[in-house]
Amino acid sequence: MARSTPPAMKRLLGRGLLTSQGDYHRQHKRMIAPAFHKEVVRQWNSTITTHCERLLDRWSEGDEVDIEYEMLRLTLAIVLKALVSAELEEGTDDMAGAANTLVEMTHCRTLPVIDDLLDKIALGRIRRFADARGRFDSIVYRMIRERRAADAPVNDLLSALLQIRDEETGRTALTDEEVRDETLTMLMAGHETTAHALTWTWYLLSQHPNAEQKLHAELDIVLRGRMPRIDDLEALPYNRMVFSEAMRLYPPVWIVARRNPNPWSLGSYTFPPGSFIFMSQYLMQRDARFFPDPERFDPERWTPDAMAQRPKYTYFPFGGGARQCIGEGFAWTIGLLVLAAIAQRWRLSLFPNQRIVLYPLITLRPKYGMRMIVELHSNPMT
Ligand code: HEM
Repeated sequence: MARSTPPAMKRLLGRGLLTSQGDYHRQHKRMIAPAFHKEVVRQWNSTITTHCERLLDRWSEGDEVDIEYEMLRLTLAIVLKALVSAELEEGTDDMAGAANTLVEMTHCRTLPVIDDLLDKIALGRIRRFADARGRFDSIVYRMIRERRAADAPVNDLLSALLQIRDEETGRTALTDEEVRDETLTMLMAGHETTAHALTWTWYLLSQHPNAEQKLHAELDIVLRGRMPRIDDLEALPYNRMVFSEAMRLYPPVWIVARRNPNPWSLGSYTFPPGSFIFMSQYLMQRDARFFPDPERFDPERWTPDAMAQRPKYTYFPFGGGARQCIGEGFAWTIGLLVLAAIAQRWRLSLFPNQRIVLYPLITLRPKYGMRMIVELHSNPMT
């Protein structure tokens, strides 16, 4: 079964993990997987908390912020640093702009045929797209050149990609173009998804004061006003329960699509070759058979006992099988550390009259942003 991706995405990302298929995909996934090993992700702890600290210091009591924008910038800064050792400020804002153009232009994801047609007739769209790709390429190829020329090794994903050797095939390295495709894929796949998971988490907490208080109480006791570390996460189960429940109600990737090369049967249905087969996290994770009173935000659904009662794949924010998210461990680490780091100092309340409407692009966004007011959380333990 092949992943169905919008043509615009293929043109931008080339043959990265998201858009490649078959043996090529399998081989690349096997080669790249070690770069996301648990021990590698641990090393990104201070990158994550340093960027959180900068954000916390920038906010003041009573500030009005668009938390979607703040989370997008924060996760982009973290992912850029971990993947290519770049600081967001140095011209990489361009990259954020180009990423946004891509996401907005692939919004017909659920109707790939129409997307194809639109691409053919919409000249403005094609121009804007070529522009975004050009900006991406010049930044990433410059980084690859610099890295190949550098004497000292750098500890990031780009270096890991440049050093890959595949024992089975004897290949010594990925070409510059392959490295470019994989790097852009990680940037695109990594920052927007994680930012929206966090955006919806802040929204839900603002609407559920009991859960918010419980989260603050846990953070107060364990952290006592300091920044969290990866080693703290085990002692913060409620933090994880809140984030899990937010991704149940608002899965950043809300639908995945496949096409079958051969006739394929499921129960009494047979799908002719080339059918589009959709699986929606949003629908499945709101199914009352597995999540009673499904619209209710209830982090208690994530106690180990409650989780053990539910069949596999009733919850799949990171997909599953051969195409499962390679960045899942990284995403959990960013999400949980950012949530703990911000909530131990601030609480966020929804701006009055903020309209909340779902905007399902590649990721599930709030259509009108998410303006929130920043209030200091005073820790009774310090
Ligand atoms: C909360 C954050 C994230 C969510 C919800 C998420 C979700 C997903 C999902 C559902 C898929 C599978 C799509 C399908 O089956 O068609 C996927 C694939 C992928 N994700 Fe993530 N992701 C997140 C963060 C990340 C991060 C941080 C990275 C890397 C830095 C990343 C890189 C990828 C890549 C490369 C793939 C393609 C894997 C393959 O096809 O083999 N993701 N992601």
